[in-house]
Amino acid sequence: MNIKITGTGSCLPDNVVTNFDMAKIVETSDEWIRERTGIAERRISTGETVASLAAKACERALEMAGKSASEVDLIIVGTCSPELLLPCAACQVQASIGADKAVAFDLSAACSGFLFALNTAYSYIAAGIYKNALIVGSEVLSKLMDWSDRSTCVLFGDGAGAAFVEADELANDGKSGIISMVQGSDGAKGMVLSCGQRQVANPYIKENNLPYNNEEYMFSPYIKMNGQEVYKFATRQVPNCIKEALDKAQLTVEDIDLFVLHQANVRIIEAAAKRLKADISKFPMNLDRIGNMSSATIPVLLDELNRAGKIHKGDKLVLSGFGAGLTYGASVIVW
Ligand code: ACO
Repeated sequence: MNIKITGTGSCLPDNVVTNFDMAKIVETSDEWIRERTGIAERRISTGETVASLAAKACERALEMAGKSASEVDLIIVGTCSPELLLPCAACQVQASIGADKAVAFDLSAACSGFLFALNTAYSYIAAGIYKNALIVGSEVLSKLMDWSDRSTCVLFGDGAGAAFVEADELANDGKSGIISMVQGSDGAKGMVLSCGQRQVANPYIKENNLPYNNEEYMFSPYIKMNGQEVYKFATRQVPNCIKEALDKAQLTVEDIDLFVLHQANVRIIEAAAKRLKADISKFPMNLDRIGNMSSATIPVLLDELNRAGKIHKGDKLVLSGFGAGLTYGASVIVW
């Protein structure tokens, strides 16, 4: 038993913030941001939430799949920026779209969140536990940014993407659905990209005994990043895990029609293409228009490609995510 993606959907806030707008907030320039990242503009929430963006993306994916919310078995939302700790964003989505019989939970793997959610849904469906799933990447990263820190606030945007996946009983030939997957984590390097939540707090904690008390870098309510370390990690790990996934699938770089990578930075994507000796035209990008939306980048790009008719039945795709954790992964799928 394998899976097929039968619907995709996405939702972005209407508010467009250009590099020129950013230059009114922090000391930066369109030239600096474009050269270093490839980003020209991003969408920033004017009230949209992780749950509201996710729900809209799910409705669009269901509409494309020709399914109703009451038929959904499982909802997994990959997010690192939910508004609420409780209830989880997936349960909010369930209530919002009326998916009464679904099991719903969030998955926290930052920019790899959608890919890990896809692989989790695949595992449930392949095991025969559920017949279908809505998988989502949704982020409102603008609330995790220090808007006075030019080294991070220019990089990120808000948005959501979703896919509806269904059991494909015919696809047990190893030639369609998910052909291979590779996932990894490197927690020892986790603090190169971090964001604090609430610290341990109870009547028994002494002020000077807080676990993250000492280094400002270690505990901040905003995203902190060592950009160069993230760059090194991504440019090494992404091509490595893509190669591993291709080897497992007994395919080569040339066999792949599209490499749908997490949209963090154009230089990371170009470096990955170079290391793989792959044609850069096979690496679609949209980060110039919408920036880095963490878990949402892969499903939003997938939805854009799908709706533009750029993915055809039988096409071989590599999806690859990488980000905070550190986490990374690649899956080879046949559309
Ligand atoms: N505008 C103008 N100048 C800036 C800005 C800005 N927005 N941000 C930083 N600078 C300045 C710095 O202050 C520094 O100035 P100084 O030399 O006077 O001290 C100078 O530019 C160089 O700063 P670096 O941090 O060394 O810049 P770098 O060349 O490393 O570029 C970047 C930063 C683009 C983030 C780079 O490290 C990179 O590409 N990293 C990859 C990580 C990434 O893309 N992360 C995205 C999110 S994580 C993820 O999705 C997995």
